[in-house]
Amino acid sequence: MASNNGSREQWSGKFGFILASIGSAVGLGSIWRFPYVTGENGGGAFVMIYVICVLLLGLPVLLSEIVLGRSTQRNPVGALRKQAPNTPWFMGGFIGIIASIIILSFYSTVGGWTLYYTWEAIANGFHQLSINGIEAKFGSFISNPATTVIWQALFMLLTMGVCIFGLQNGIERTNKFLMPLLGLMLIILVIRAVTLPGSGEGIRFILYPDWSSVSITTIFEALGMAFFSLSVGAGTMITYGSFLSKKESVPSAIGNIVLFSTLVSLAAGLAIFPAVFSLGYEPNAGPALVFITLPSVFAQMPIGSLSAVLFFFLLSMAALTSSISLLEVPLRYLEDEHQLNRKTGTILTGGLIFLLGIPSTLSFNILSDTKGLFGLTIFDSLDFLASNVLLPLGGLIVILFAGWKWGMNQVLREARGEDGKGLPAQPFWVFIVRWVTPLLILTVFAFQILSSL
Ligand code: PFF
Repeated sequence: MASNNGSREQWSGKFGFILASIGSAVGLGSIWRFPYVTGENGGGAFVMIYVICVLLLGLPVLLSEIVLGRSTQRNPVGALRKQAPNTPWFMGGFIGIIASIIILSFYSTVGGWTLYYTWEAIANGFHQLSINGIEAKFGSFISNPATTVIWQALFMLLTMGVCIFGLQNGIERTNKFLMPLLGLMLIILVIRAVTLPGSGEGIRFILYPDWSSVSITTIFEALGMAFFSLSVGAGTMITYGSFLSKKESVPSAIGNIVLFSTLVSLAAGLAIFPAVFSLGYEPNAGPALVFITLPSVFAQMPIGSLSAVLFFFLLSMAALTSSISLLEVPLRYLEDEHQLNRKTGTILTGGLIFLLGIPSTLSFNILSDTKGLFGLTIFDSLDFLASNVLLPLGGLIVILFAGWKWGMNQVLREARGEDGKGLPAQPFWVFIVRWVTPLLILTVFAFQILSSL
């Protein structure tokens, strides 16, 4: 592990940081959550609003988080405390920590599903199953409480294992090989999906905006999705930024993170919706969507069995590179602020998050009738609370801090690397960070609250 003159551990270089950040951003959010939320929100119009939210809301928060982390070399709470001592700003860091804990709790449910599907693809394959058979397979897996909790436990153990190995050995190595492979696999899947008979309707569904389906809830969902898919608002990027050497310039790293995470989401949509329409599934099938649609595509592909193994393996790894970034947030807080050692911290936090995640897993079987917020299941309630409320709230606090308390001059200066390369079009970004992003987040919040009264 490289250390900075014996002080804070660092990424091996900019490439390591970019890959780890892309690894955090690209995960179940892009490949599993984005398609089903798009399906539930009417398709193309949602996709367009999502892209606007990524650029106008997600990107400025991403910039502020990375710069804040890099300049303070601290966890989210410590970073805000260092820059604004004796003020309540640090509470924003706690919102991030709570968000990351809640997200990881239900993320591990689906992480477990991806591991099980990898195993199924290896052991039995999907090729001999009919479309109904594939749906039934998902149904029978998901309705078994013991099996689903065991796979969830395995996913959490893997996450904790990588975190114990630390930054370069664990997180960097895992990312370097797997991300490019996942990209390649997705391209192959898109090609297969768009050449299925009758795929045109699916392509139209995701690319053609039908504005009549847009409501304030659509915008609210798109905002949450943008934050979720970029990993912002939970302090992850403050934490990852804190390991970035001051030599590197931040803007180019940000461009890469935004570009890849958005492209992967769009590619996942293009791989899934043509298949949904071609094979006669419902686009609003919810969290099951990827797990029933893609196995059917594999069943119709040459070397489909091998592709299914590869895809679900890579999907589990993409989930893992995101879950380690989520676990890293509370871990670094405990290490920095309470001097807890990494191993104890990982076991304590990981164990606790696993326990917290069990009700989410069980909400697909024995707890399916237990309702939480707004009559949603436990899983959906936690997802709603974390993705649609805590992430935008955490992001709002960081962006207000960057634009108004810390100051844009400082942010822009800190964003530069040794080569002096700063952000292009600075006056534009200053305006966006100070006015556009906070006001848009506040407006969406206000309308959502008013509409649910
Ligand atoms: N961005 C990850 C994904 O799309 O799967 C999920 C995530 C990671 C959300 C880290 C938030 C976060 F802080």
